[in-house]
Amino acid sequence: MSYEEVIGFHNKPKTALKRAKPILETRKLTRRFDGPVGQVTILQDINMKVMPGKTISIVGPSGSGKTTLIGLCAGLDLATSGEVLIDGVNLAELNERERAALRNRKVGFVFQNFQLIPHLNALENVMVPLDLRGERSAKNDAKDWLERLGLENRMYNFPGEMSGGELQRVALARAFIGRPKVIFADEPTGNLDDVTSEYIIEELFRINKTIGTTLIIVTHDLEIAKRTDRILTLKQGRLLG
Ligand SMILES: Nc1ncnc2c1ncn2[C@@H]1O[C@H](COP(=O)(O)OP(=O)(O)OP(=O)(O)O)[C@@H](O)[C@H]1O
Ligand SMILES: [Mg+2]
Repeated sequence: MSYEEVIGFHNKPKTALKRAKPILETRKLTRRFDGPVGQVTILQDINMKVMPGKTISIVGPSGSGKTTLIGLCAGLDLATSGEVLIDGVNLAELNERERAALRNRKVGFVFQNFQLIPHLNALENVMVPLDLRGERSAKNDAKDWLERLGLENRMYNFPGEMSGGELQRVALARAFIGRPKVIFADEPTGNLDDVTSEYIIEELFRINKTIGTTLIIVTHDLEIAKRTDRILTLKQGRLLG
């Protein structure tokens, strides 16, 4: 076992080491899009293994394929070739419905532009992942999460009635409420001022550590990247190093 894998389990009992399996793995992951002058390769032969509980940042210039990569890893998009495995399950072997179910159970998202549902209030937005599973505790759990994030007075506000920082706190609650295995955050502070960004990043890392989720964060901010266990750099669709 490599040192990388061992450090991913530094606070787990020794028996866990024997069972260490990547929570996310890509094998020669490649994505091409049809362009006006033929196919364009956006990602090429991406191989990565992420062990449970680790934090990973993905950095690289605009257009290098960061959003495309996490979209593929999360099963929001399909690879042209190569494979993505989440918790050992090969996404290519699932149909659309099965992929959606796997996303609901294993994955949480935080986006730069929040992506809350505009006609649902904060509470209803946070309930969505548990509602989809038919869990009766959805409402109470969502209230707990919003309280934990200091939004007890915003539960019935609609997205159009909240600030960027508040919207991202609602998005954090929605991402974590289903206790996913992996959180994908795509420039989660890209639309926030410095003070609000700091707060959101602190909360994201704090909650992530408390629950032991695996965090994959796309960022342009090297200070944020330095806080993660590993920094992956994308350049023109390839992983450097
Ligand atoms: N659906 C699509 N069809 C065609 N080209 C696409 C599509 N999605 C992304 N691309 C192209 O793929 C490249 C990588 O895009 P991507 O959004 O992954 O970059 P990024 O690294 O996230 O950039 P940024 O830092 O600006 O968010 C870009 O050149 C983009 O135009
Ligand atoms: Mg992007």
